Amino acid sequence: MKIIIDTDPGQDDALTILLALASPEIELLGVTTVAGNVSVEQTTENALKTLDLAGRTDIPVHAGADRPLLRPAVNATHVHGRTGFEGVDLPPPSRAANPGHAVDFIIRTVMENPPGSITLCTIGPLTNIALALAREPALRERIGQIVMMGCAFSEVGNITPTGEFNVYVDPHAAEMVFASGIRLVVFPLDVTHQLHTSAARLARIEQIPNRIGPVVAAWLRFEKRFEATKYGTDGGPLHDPNTVIWLLRPDLYHGREVNVEIETGSPLTMGMSVVDWWGISRKPKNALFMRDVDVEGVYDLIVDRLSRL
Ligand code: BDR
Ligand code: CA
Repeated sequence: MKIIIDTDPGQDDALTILLALASPEIELLGVTTVAGNVSVEQTTENALKTLDLAGRTDIPVHAGADRPLLRPAVNATHVHGRTGFEGVDLPPPSRAANPGHAVDFIIRTVMENPPGSITLCTIGPLTNIALALAREPALRERIGQIVMMGCAFSEVGNITPTGEFNVYVDPHAAEMVFASGIRLVVFPLDVTHQLHTSAARLARIEQIPNRIGPVVAAWLRFEKRFEATKYGTDGGPLHDPNTVIWLLRPDLYHGREVNVEIETGSPLTMGMSVVDWWGISRKPKNALFMRDVDVEGVYDLIVDRLSRL
């Protein structure tokens, strides 16, 4: 299957890219970057470094939006460190990003391929996707599906009491995506908070006999330092990789078709994902919203795939 990853690396974003590269079922057409965890200059550099690490300098990288549509930028350096990649020092990228804006790359790639054949895998704020939908309305019919890390239901928020980071940073963009009518598959905090990066799981990743395993383990160990303390769990959450893992093994997840809308008016609950789990509003269902995950199955798959790189 053909995918584009829209991302703000971030350690867990980088693992997502590596899992796609390790999977013959997936053809990664390109990586598009957005401001989120860190600035777009830094997320672009990090995407290039990740592809260098895997020896895949053939994959195009296009830099995208440097700020949310309407609101001031918010970052997550408190989780990911100043560079977004703290925990490991990688060499500077071997190349610059490809010329041309991420939004143009997304539009061109989707429009050049058969309708419904491209999956967008979004693991950062949704600014690039909203801009692309505004520029080319035909994308609504042409994009096969958007598989997204974002939102929260019972886990509620991680950047504000009611806001999950990717949605909170650009709630207006998220609102446009949830109103687009495109098939959406959503991996919220409800799933990611179950996947604790415990010491035993990180040790399994670290022991993978190639140079990727120790790097991924060190990245996740850095994230864990902040997140595990916050939640009092044995390890931090594992967010973005669920998108690519679901493409490979949908049987590891369970969710429900629901209506999701994004709060953009209230200063108190800005960026809240309002999930109609019980179908109370009778509004049309616009997302497959995941809540359950086979935790050991996910870690087994990560170890198996990274071992192939
Ligand atoms: C999301 O926020 C970022 O910090 C992570 O990379 C993930 O995409 C989790 O809320
Ligand atoms: Ca991310």
